[in-house]
Amino acid sequence: PLKLKQCHGTCSLNLLLCPEMLAPPAPVRFHSVDYKNVLHWSPPNNGSSLQYHVQWKIYGEPEWLDVDRCQGVQRLDCDLSGVTSDPREWYYARVRAVSPSTSSQSAWALSPRFSPRMDTIISPPGLRVNFTERGIMVRVNPPRMHVRRMRNLLRYKIYIIPSSGEEDVVQMGCCTRNLTLKDLHHNSKYCLQAQTVIPTQTKSSARSRLQCGTTV
Ligand SMILES: *[C@@H]1O[C@H](CO)[C@@H](O)[C@H](O)[C@H]1NC(C)=O
Ligand SMILES: *[C@@H]1O[C@H](CO)[C@@H](O)[C@H](O)[C@H]1NC(C)=O
Ligand SMILES: *[C@@H]1O[C@H](CO)[C@@H](O)[C@H](O)[C@H]1NC(C)=O
Repeated sequence: PLKLKQCHGTCSLNLLLCPEMLAPPAPVRFHSVDYKNVLHWSPPNNGSSLQYHVQWKIYGEPEWLDVDRCQGVQRLDCDLSGVTSDPREWYYARVRAVSPSTSSQSAWALSPRFSPRMDTIISPPGLRVNFTERGIMVRVNPPRMHVRRMRNLLRYKIYIIPSSGEEDVVQMGCCTRNLTLKDLHHNSKYCLQAQTVIPTQTKSSARSRLQCGTTV
């Protein structure tokens, strides 16, 4: 083990000196949905029963910090939402593999630079519709935001798609999740979709699945 440890410093200079050195995990990437920021990686070639260590830092800071819950783990992902919770910051993470049986370890594998605000994918809202005599009652259910203060910024668009003719879109007002659509043709088929938008960030989700019905 001692010999291997001394070897680590020179491995990057000459791999032949250190045949047991592990290849690093690759690729290392953030995947972020609704500000839940999870780092993913793949095992190095021929990597089995390895453990992984994860560190993170804010872009521009010199110091790498351990992610406490992701030291010596065997799984291939690590939730960094807690330490990467400022949407305006840029972050890096890095992972290295360790083989407990041979006590060899890999070099660090670095993630691309990650911006929660730019890189997160926003989910569509849940959509419930009810075709009634008073019109189509629409209710949206917001996606679960992992950064609490993002919840107040969410708005919703409702797409109204008649079986023939142009689709229409209505943006719901601030702070409401209910809407009644009136003045539609009677006894006609309509489909609806909902979309989450964050106007202040010019971000939007995909559209929800179609919900269809016939007006009274
Ligand atoms: C994987 O590593 C083991 C032990 O280091 C070695 O015996 C084996 O040949 C390797 N397999 C491949 C496919 O490289
Ligand atoms: C739809 O609206 C009607 C009339 O308001 C109500 O009686 C019914 O329970 C509603 N259905 C659903 C599934 O919400
Ligand atoms: C929105 O609609 C739901 C049923 O679709 C109802 O339970 C709720 O009270 C409504 N909320 C408001 C603010 O109108």
